[in-house]
Amino acid sequence: MPGVLITIILTTLTAARPLAFGQKIELSLDASKTGQEIDRNIFGQFAEHLGHGIYDGIWVGPDSTIPNTRGIRNDVVAALKALKVPNIRWPGGCFADEYHWGDGIGSERVTRLNPNWGGVIEPNTFGTQEFMDFIDQIGSQAYVSVNVGSGTPREAADWLEYMTAAQPTTLAKERGANGHPDPYKVQMLGIGNESWDCGGNMTPEYYASQMKIYSRFVRNYNPDQQKDQMLKIAVGPGGDEPRFVDWTETVMKAYQHHAWSWDIDGLSLHSYTVNWQHKYRSDDFGESEYAEVLKSTLEMDGLINKYSAIMDKYDPQKKVALIVDEWGAWYAPLPGSNPGFLVQQNSLRDAILATLNLNIFARHGERVRGANIAQMINVLQAMILTDKEKMVRTPTYYVFKMYVPFEDATLVPVTFDAGRYTHGNVSLPRIDAIAAKDKAGKLWLEVTNVDPNRAVEIELNMSNVAAKSAAGEMLTAPKVNSVNTFDAPNKVVPKSISAKAENGKLTLRLEPKSVTVVSVEQ
Ligand code: AHR
Repeated sequence: MPGVLITIILTTLTAARPLAFGQKIELSLDASKTGQEIDRNIFGQFAEHLGHGIYDGIWVGPDSTIPNTRGIRNDVVAALKALKVPNIRWPGGCFADEYHWGDGIGSERVTRLNPNWGGVIEPNTFGTQEFMDFIDQIGSQAYVSVNVGSGTPREAADWLEYMTAAQPTTLAKERGANGHPDPYKVQMLGIGNESWDCGGNMTPEYYASQMKIYSRFVRNYNPDQQKDQMLKIAVGPGGDEPRFVDWTETVMKAYQHHAWSWDIDGLSLHSYTVNWQHKYRSDDFGESEYAEVLKSTLEMDGLINKYSAIMDKYDPQKKVALIVDEWGAWYAPLPGSNPGFLVQQNSLRDAILATLNLNIFARHGERVRGANIAQMINVLQAMILTDKEKMVRTPTYYVFKMYVPFEDATLVPVTFDAGRYTHGNVSLPRIDAIAAKDKAGKLWLEVTNVDPNRAVEIELNMSNVAAKSAAGEMLTAPKVNSVNTFDAPNKVVPKSISAKAENGKLTLRLEPKSVTVVSVEQ
């Protein structure tokens, strides 16, 4: 019905309970107007050799009693397959700048220490072959970070030749002898990690010259994977410190003057929520910590604005993507855990924190074309926790699952007056929302109710179309710090919701502290 504005009311399972005055919020969208694509790579993951992120979390070895395929846990693979993980960043993190790939191939693996993370033994039983097998099993792509800090361009170039060469070079033949004659695909290449800190404490100028050398020589040796297909990601800023303005300026200025012989496709941004502030616990907290942590996470938007503005100066055509390849909540380690293993629980607060960040990335889609939450399993804001043969999906896992329809969908701008949620001296937008059309033309809507105390009724105003019904899932739990444990794994799980238009109107009732994703039938 072109040109007509229709108000639709969605009645949900919970619509019977009355809402107080002022608890209705209108969302308006015009499904015929679309914005930029939501790059599926914003749903990327990060798996570092850190704590039980790899060993026990992914790798148990072929002789384990835990069901596995070539040493890789079957339960973890099945859970991750459902997330349609676009890429996995590996092997670090700080670990990457001390990793020597030759230690992790063939039948004789080199045992080393992992000085960054607890000083434990690194057996290198999970190396290139095992990583590639793992991403193949879950249907993902490789984002490999090469060692710039303590390696050499030659070492990194050899690794790429080992992985990608299709012709029978000595390294390609070695790969074949190790069980994989066909070249591996490398989708993304990280040129170092936090080179301003754990990656070698470099000055921006020193890093910029290293970046040029690595970009030039660390090639993808497979013609089918060259240019436009293997994205080279340079080290960018890490949070809001003033020194990162200079860093970003220097790297982007170098890019502006880049010659035919080298190039970059992305600049990384690392930013953790409440990083190092050990006063924030991951499980035992109340509403004040809920509000403070969410306030802190919303700073991501300002950071992206700040660094995008610098990038715009040197790259107005936005050829270089901003890749937020480390983000998420970083709380105090769980009592009794090895502090070097970065073990934390994952609560409903983290689910809401994840949606707020994913929505920020989606809205910045012209520049933000990749992101990797830290980290996938057993470390920081994880999707999955394991304990020997047990495995549990976290609230953050369910958010990533609910967001699968947004992968490569096209943003549909949605406008709303979010209202405010206030607790003490923290005041936040009460709701957040994004909408998008998937490749099949189906309209998807995500709405987060940040307010932990008040439900809200969403009234959807769509231009030019009448909605018939909506169906999807809502994630909430009794408390902001509700978690899934090995003994009670289903405390925070999404529940189905569906609604039909009544009298041509759709409203959607959102529970307090909830995340809702629905598809809207027109
Ligand atoms: O994700 C944990 C660590 O945080 C990474 O190794 C490092 O890059 C960052 O400082």
